[in-house]
Amino acid sequence: MFEGIIRIIEDRGCEKSMNFFRDLLDDSDFCPQALKAYLPDPLPTRFYDRRVLFTRCDIEAVLATWPPGVFTLPHNHGIHPTFGVVKVLTGTIENRIFAPDQNRIRPAGISHFQAGDILKVPLKLIHAMGNPHSEIAVSLHIYSPKIEQVSYWDPLSFEPLRDPQHNSGPIQWPTSYAS
Ligand SMILES: [Fe+2]
Repeated sequence: MFEGIIRIIEDRGCEKSMNFFRDLLDDSDFCPQALKAYLPDPLPTRFYDRRVLFTRCDIEAVLATWPPGVFTLPHNHGIHPTFGVVKVLTGTIENRIFAPDQNRIRPAGISHFQAGDILKVPLKLIHAMGNPHSEIAVSLHIYSPKIEQVSYWDPLSFEPLRDPQHNSGPIQWPTSYAS
């Protein structure tokens, strides 16, 4: 199902640009029936499932499966200048943006994306992604370079977190976050 994406990446000489990644996912259709073969079995219930689909010339594709109510912790995308795009394949994804504030963070916006929508992950983005609804959600992520040594922040205190036990969970966001 993802062979077509790999072929296009190789045909384009492993171009690494936000526009290329966006067009790549925008032009790709993913059959919900075929997608099932790539999902974890059983489906996750408490944490999100993240599996690497392929890595080609410093471009990595990841399939994320989101149980209802589960979000990542606020995070950046590691020590490299990583950027990418995300396509929602099924369900709804909520994207919570944060701004750096000394070594802490502060809320800076909330957006929602439906199946077929694409969101950009620009350089230095700090965000938390998750599934705000009662149905499972699935998203496809293309990044370059590979994400390594991610930093996390506490979603309530906004303080940095060192080596959290889990990087996702059923986070209850304060209603005062609404923007
Ligand atoms: Fe992220």
